[in-house]
Amino acid sequence: VRLGGVVGNPIGHSLSPILHNAWLEAAAVDGSYVAFQPKDPNGFRTLVAAGRAGLIQGLNVTAPFKEQAFALADDIAPAAKATGSANILVFEDGRVRADSADGAGVLYALAEQAPAFELNGAHVVMLGAGGAARAVAGALVQAGARLSILNRTRSRAEALAADLGAAVAVAEDEGVLAGADLVINALSAPPTIDLSVLKADAVVMDMTYKPVLTPFLAAAQARGLITVDGLAMLIGQAGPSFEAIFGVPPPPLDLRAVAMAHLE
Ligand code: ATR
Repeated sequence: VRLGGVVGNPIGHSLSPILHNAWLEAAAVDGSYVAFQPKDPNGFRTLVAAGRAGLIQGLNVTAPFKEQAFALADDIAPAAKATGSANILVFEDGRVRADSADGAGVLYALAEQAPAFELNGAHVVMLGAGGAARAVAGALVQAGARLSILNRTRSRAEALAADLGAAVAVAEDEGVLAGADLVINALSAPPTIDLSVLKADAVVMDMTYKPVLTPFLAAAQARGLITVDGLAMLIGQAGPSFEAIFGVPPPPLDLRAVAMAHLE
């Protein structure tokens, strides 16, 4: 039996166990995917030790443990290296490998819900400079986007931009929105930006998915803008995670329907 899971705090409302267990059942894999909620970094270390001992095959990692996951790994995949955080840990022969599928999740979500949008050459405005922004910014730059980071605390945006290199700028103020092809909300609080300044063909994405249609996305839709939701991103990162943890590709299954049924 293969054991996988998601580790974070809080973790009770994570959809990941619903998604992965639906795949496990559809693929007839003898495995289980559970939620772990360590109360502190020591608890997280204990879980990683269980993985090293062969008791757990792999973990998805979410806040606040993504940076610790990165730091504890023996081997680091390029996608994780680019972000300094990991959302996947895979355990094999006592070693810990860190990877990140958050960037892949954003690319998947854009392809699913804004198929006409071309990231290569696009001007992307990222709202926020915390862990969520950091986890996906590198993938956007690698896909050819020009990134502007708009954040309440400017120094944090500067630190993220410095880590990412030349294709990334720190936005002075909301004036940057007028030139945006894509706006991504990576804040832990609802954005308060004025959507009326956006171009008519701008795409608006939210990384959060509770509710799936956030007030931010609803306001964008009311303006006729194309929107991309955080559930599509969650499903997009779940595919590579499943394959890394359970060793087989996810079977074909309408995971969005599975998730929506659970959220209702
Ligand atoms: P996460 O892991 O969810 O990204 P985080 O690392 O704490 O969490 O980052 C939270 C982000 O939301 C930051 O960009 C934060 O802005 P600051 O860097 O200025 O703190 C932003 N944020 C949180 N609450 C906010 C609020 N009330 N108004 C504006 N920005 C907020």
